[in-house]
Amino acid sequence: FKLPAIENEPNQHYEAGSSSRAGLLAALAQMRAAAPFEIPCIINGKEVKTGKKQSQLIPADHASSLCTYHEATPSDVDSAIKGALAAKVKWESMAWADRAAIFLKAADLVGGKYRYKIMAATMLGQGKNAWQAEIDAAAELVDFLRFSAKYTEELYAQQPPKNAPGVWNRSEYRALDGFVLAVSPFNFTAIGGNLVGAPAIVGNVVLWKPSPMAVYSNYILYQILEEAGLPAGVIQFIPGPAEAIVAQSFKHPLFAGLHFTGSTAVFKKLWKDIASNIEIYKSYPRIVGETGGKNFHLVHKSADVKSSVLQAIRGAFEYQGQKCSALSRLYVPQSLWEGKGGFKEQLIDQVKLITLGQPEEFEHFMGPVIARHSYDKITSYIKKAKAAGGEVIVGGQADDSKGFFVHPTVIETKDPKSVTMVEEIFGPVITAYAYPDDKFEETIELVKETTDYALTGAVFAQDREAVAYMADKLRNAAGNFYINDKCTGAVVGQQPFGGSRGSGTNDKAGSINLLYRFVNARSIKETF
Ligand code: SER
Repeated sequence: FKLPAIENEPNQHYEAGSSSRAGLLAALAQMRAAAPFEIPCIINGKEVKTGKKQSQLIPADHASSLCTYHEATPSDVDSAIKGALAAKVKWESMAWADRAAIFLKAADLVGGKYRYKIMAATMLGQGKNAWQAEIDAAAELVDFLRFSAKYTEELYAQQPPKNAPGVWNRSEYRALDGFVLAVSPFNFTAIGGNLVGAPAIVGNVVLWKPSPMAVYSNYILYQILEEAGLPAGVIQFIPGPAEAIVAQSFKHPLFAGLHFTGSTAVFKKLWKDIASNIEIYKSYPRIVGETGGKNFHLVHKSADVKSSVLQAIRGAFEYQGQKCSALSRLYVPQSLWEGKGGFKEQLIDQVKLITLGQPEEFEHFMGPVIARHSYDKITSYIKKAKAAGGEVIVGGQADDSKGFFVHPTVIETKDPKSVTMVEEIFGPVITAYAYPDDKFEETIELVKETTDYALTGAVFAQDREAVAYMADKLRNAAGNFYINDKCTGAVVGQQPFGGSRGSGTNDKAGSINLLYRFVNARSIKETF
């Protein structure tokens, strides 16, 4: 048998007066009224209330808490590992289609019955507006769950191409020999789904440490998986302090894989910690990580100015620049940048139209940044940029009186290696460099070599030769490369996502490649 055809989940729209808007508003109102929720750890399918409580705040309204959650302690991690390894016995020997059915059902529940609930949790807890929540917690999450099932089918069908006379060669793919630790970020609810879903669907058991800033939406997802039939213990939901949870997991001889999305610095530290424990492990742990970015738009003199301005705004400021793929370095030729109606003027005019507000107010393009520490970091980078001679040509304001609001900001620099051109800010800040038209070659080098990251990037040109030239020269500058489109918004099944160099192991979320990292293959030769 074969799985049914898998399509991308269509996006819903939330126009004024639509039933979708009414449904989402009702979910938001209900959630605000009932918050704060009390969220336990879930170990072996049972709620564990450890009594060590932390809060997840509403970033647009930081006096309010969305949930308080119980933090897992090291001994909870131990019982999670023990229970997961016990659950693994049945889970990995289940027919793959039965595992796939659980994820397909969960996808239907996310896209149907729970769409507005998980979106509302993502909007309130992670500061997204309706559209950003729709493309994340509804569409992309559904896609990850459904496409993982499809890729699992394809993976298991991979067989050696040759058999000699009297011989039957075949390949088998089993789960890793141990458990996987998934450490998920705040910025996409969908990424949490993929970090746990991809290893689990091919028979692994997973300890899930969600971001403290996304506990509630991630918990809803856990509950949906449970409702879809996920057996107890297969995914253990253990929010809490990253260092202690990770350290306890890494001490176990059957630690077999890390599935991580987060900062480069943390990923490097985890890699070193795994390396220093290597003697205790029964197998070489698989290390899969998607980390930072310092993503670029390079505009060629043949580009359409109006559309490259709009793509820059979307790439940089949607979700307040808190996508690992977000635009932060902009290179525009001086001949397009300057002058009346030029790139700079259009950019300033468009940015001035952007408004910020609460998630329930559908008219806003932007909301808050995630937390106090991000607000402080972003505003301090704006100060640093000014101190280094950068000019804030639009934006620069910030207001944390109610929520963590930082206005969309463009810094123009004369120094293409200034601090905000090099370091990741993770907020709504573009640094723009107007390059001399006769220095195009040098600018390509700058795009490539200014940072150690290589996650996403885009080029804008109408001249086909220029497109081909840039695509060739920038081969290793971005794992996701866009031509005449913004550098964000990869779609599962269409643009497998991930970067190389400092940006990660480039195992491509939303593709079959990722699943290969979470299986052990066995080659079998049978002679007749
Ligand atoms: N996959 C997202 C994007 O492409 C980022 O994580 O924007």
